[in-house]
Amino acid sequence: MIEVRTMIYPGTFDPLTNGHLDIARRAVRLCDRLVVAVLINSAKQTAFSAAERADMVQIALQDLPAVHVVRFDGLLVDLYRREGACAVVRGLRSESDFRFEAEMAAANKLLLPAYETCLLPCRIDLAFTSSSIVREVASFGGDISGMVPAAIIGRIQGRFVGRRSQQKLEDD
Ligand code: PNS
Repeated sequence: MIEVRTMIYPGTFDPLTNGHLDIARRAVRLCDRLVVAVLINSAKQTAFSAAERADMVQIALQDLPAVHVVRFDGLLVDLYRREGACAVVRGLRSESDFRFEAEMAAANKLLLPAYETCLLPCRIDLAFTSSSIVREVASFGGDISGMVPAAIIGRIQGRFVGRRSQQKLEDD
């Protein structure tokens, strides 16, 4: 029987950035199947719904047949078991990311001994690109074209244009 090596790339993706895209495109070369798992119920308030976030991921990665986009709730280890995964992949931008990632890897390994983590250092030119910076720049109508895939710029800008007009109405 041929073993299908599945990796999971989980995240909030609020929204997907070029940094996320780079990690996904590199990770897909390390496995047969990459499940990009979009967290549904983040403790954080998100700018985009889980469906909107997953749609943007799908659009940006549609040229890769080995990528499957899912939404998930609950524990990552449960998704890991369900998917029969061999590892979770996460991007590392900085030392501060490492601390969080090491804690998450350790906690998940305690919950599921078979759990493995694969940390990919992000491309140096994308080290300071984050979803929160994208949201901040977009909320002021700034240029996000170097930070997110071209195919989803309109969706992101659309969200914040609406919010700015609403805010202006309330301020006037
Ligand atoms: O992009 P993010 O917000 O850094 O992703 C964090 C994510 C979704 C990977 C993490 O919050 C997660 O796995 N949540 C699911 C709940 C869970 O399993 N928590 C235990 C891990 S310590």
